[in-house]
Amino acid sequence: MSTQVESAPAESVDEGPKTVVETQSLTKVYRDFWGRQKVRALKALDLEIREGEIFGLLGPNGSGKSTTIKLLLGLLFPTSGRAIVLDEEATKVDKNERIGYLPEESYLYRFLTAEETLDFYGRLFDMSGQERRDRTNELIERVGLGWARRRQLREYSKGMTRRIGLAQALINDPELIFLDEPTSGLDPLGTREMKDLILDLKAKGKTVVMSSHQLDDVQDVCDRIGILYQGELKELGRVDELLRVEDETQIRCSHLSEGAIDEIKQVIAKHEGELKDVSNPQSTLEQLFLEIVRQSEERPGMRAGSK
Ligand SMILES: Nc1ncnc2c1ncn2[C@@H]1O[C@H](COP(=O)(O)OP(=O)(O)OP(=O)(O)O)[C@@H](O)[C@H]1O
Ligand SMILES: [Mg+2]
Repeated sequence: MSTQVESAPAESVDEGPKTVVETQSLTKVYRDFWGRQKVRALKALDLEIREGEIFGLLGPNGSGKSTTIKLLLGLLFPTSGRAIVLDEEATKVDKNERIGYLPEESYLYRFLTAEETLDFYGRLFDMSGQERRDRTNELIERVGLGWARRRQLREYSKGMTRRIGLAQALINDPELIFLDEPTSGLDPLGTREMKDLILDLKAKGKTVVMSSHQLDDVQDVCDRIGILYQGELKELGRVDELLRVEDETQIRCSHLSEGAIDEIKQVIAKHEGELKDVSNPQSTLEQLFLEIVRQSEERPGMRAGSK
């Protein structure tokens, strides 16, 4: 069990959804050609991810997000510590049959079409011809590439490549999906669609672990986040709780007239409340993120739960 201090809901501590990913002091040091320690990419990560949640890994460039995902997939060996994924050691790659993975960089064959790509991956999972056709049709429609299904991937734009990458990651109907920067290169519309696809996976009971730089996206879709900075977990918790400002109340309304706002101001004054702001809602995850980075620079030893 993780000893991490986090704000998971009480009912999930003992009997809630089962743990899908657990890391214990997971550490990765990349070595140079001579075996000398080069980069401490991940430092003693303790993390628990539950079935059915969307977990976001946040952090600046080089903070260890992709390293974490690769360790969980068994594509990298940890230097120390361990990770359990779907009740198996992460280093056992046969568990990956139940996992989908969208890597940071596309590695798909550029001379295959979307259809051929999905058919190829279906074969790797020993799917029958009929299964492959059905699954290919379903996924191509789901990621909105029906119109480009017979075009070679070398002609695809960044956003289209991201979409076919997601379809490929879902070919085996995985229960756990790792998405490394799923919205990178997508325009706002593509981003919204990708977010809807991720929420759709959650609605189907899947567990999603994603990394992103797009803080708004993370705020929109993730149930919980972990913020990494130089390989250390600096913050961990539910997005709504991390962003909650305890001693303030926000009331959101639409179609309110100036007169009505004046009346509300009078009520607030009558009850000796302090009116702080009357404005449209703002994104706040960005502020949290920048604050964590600032604090991390001031207090290098700081970790999640050590405040
Ligand atoms: N194969 C490698 N050999 C040596 N160092 C590496 C290797 N891969 C990653 N690193 C280093 O490990 C650290 C973490 O890298 P990682 O790719 O996990 O970061 P990231 O959070 O995914 O960054 P980004 O947002 O840029 O994708 C960085 O300092 C990086 O230079
Ligand atoms: Mg990365």
